Amino acid sequence: MTAQETGAPAAAPETLRARALASLVTARTRTTLLTTCVEDPDLTAQVSPLMSPLVWDLAHIGNQEELWLLRAVGGREAMRPEIDGLYDAFEHPRSERPSLPLLAPEEARAYAAEVRGRVLDLLEGATFEGDRLTESGFAFGMIAQHEQQHDETMLITHQLRTGPQALTAPDPDPAPPFTGPAEVLVPGGPFTMGTSTEPWALDNERPAHPREVAPYWIDTAPVTNAAYRAFIEDGGYGTERWWSPEGWAHIRRHSVEAPLYWHRDGGQWLRRRFGVTEPVPPEEPVLHVSWYEADAYARWAGRRLPTEAEWEKAARHDPETGRSRRFPWGDADPTAAHANLGQRHLRPAPAGSYPAGESPHGVRQLIGDVWEWTSSDFLPYPGFTVFPYKEYSQVFFGPEYKVLRGGSFAVGQVACRGTFRNWDYPIRRQIFSGFRTARDAESA
Ligand code: AVJ
Ligand code: FE
Repeated sequence: MTAQETGAPAAAPETLRARALASLVTARTRTTLLTTCVEDPDLTAQVSPLMSPLVWDLAHIGNQEELWLLRAVGGREAMRPEIDGLYDAFEHPRSERPSLPLLAPEEARAYAAEVRGRVLDLLEGATFEGDRLTESGFAFGMIAQHEQQHDETMLITHQLRTGPQALTAPDPDPAPPFTGPAEVLVPGGPFTMGTSTEPWALDNERPAHPREVAPYWIDTAPVTNAAYRAFIEDGGYGTERWWSPEGWAHIRRHSVEAPLYWHRDGGQWLRRRFGVTEPVPPEEPVLHVSWYEADAYARWAGRRLPTEAEWEKAARHDPETGRSRRFPWGDADPTAAHANLGQRHLRPAPAGSYPAGESPHGVRQLIGDVWEWTSSDFLPYPGFTVFPYKEYSQVFFGPEYKVLRGGSFAVGQVACRGTFRNWDYPIRRQIFSGFRTARDAESA
């Protein structure tokens, strides 16, 4: 089988220019919100050793934009060569960043704005041809995705902060209770994993390649708070046999007994969400669980996490044509009817929402709402090549990281598609992580 995908047709330069501009502007609007909704001292404070001060993310966003768009694409000189080291994520771990001589909030804003002004001038005259960095506006797309990824990181920091609510957003529309099947059967056989045609796909999503998958059942929707609570009430956190040895050691050592941000109050579970304490909503996908917790829940339920390939086949495979598509619903970009993305809401939508976003196999909410842990290690696809820099993906390949798929409510649309891969350590749960489960099916 040769790798086959459907996809959007090649775009004309004016279309690429408009797409690049809109993606950059959308990201900056969000960055501005995330860095003005609190007072300046809150931008320089370190909320958690897991996170950078918000003001670091802000100037790092500007610095990466300068590096890749003004210098690499535009051939310009460095604007402030002395600050490059401060904003190099590999020179300084997050825990160290508050003690660096960082640009103060006003300087960081001015720097990011100055870079952006020059980038917009560059974009006006861009031809989108020459090399891989400029073709299809790749570098502009990469930088818009980078900014959106840091916007999600900053939203994680906001969620970690204690203190009054700084952000608000409307809740998702109430959904009628989902009455469809709890799981669906995905037939075995080959499908095309990864992409060679998506213009702004990052290096780890490439190339498209055939994958053989045995038949499996997969949950129609992500695991809910109600289902996860049943695991807790059944003594799941106290029962060693549900846990991997590493997971058990980790939860014992750190006294983990519930998802992050949950606490018991008499007979009910409450959670803290962006400065507000509220009852845990039963119908919502569970959020802020580690890979270890997802893995243990699945074993308790007599199931397992899906592999990354199973997740992607459920999301992209079109059984009618045999091809893989960009999104569960087809090749069209997401709308508000398809998926919960872009911080439009500050929470996932109830499980079973977004019927318009369903895949041909009948799987819902693959895109948006919660990042979904898979059982797979973060590894390169056959034929992987670094592009454009090894510190995006390559230095992270290996068994220490587990892959997450699908994106959360906090993912910008430009950084979300059926092929997009995220990764993190199996202990992490400050991220917007949930999961769905799977099981083997009998071969026909
Ligand atoms: C893909 C989310 C793991 O935040 O470490 C941001 C994204 N890479 N700047 C991260 C990223 C460089 C990355 N993740
Ligand atoms: Fe970064």
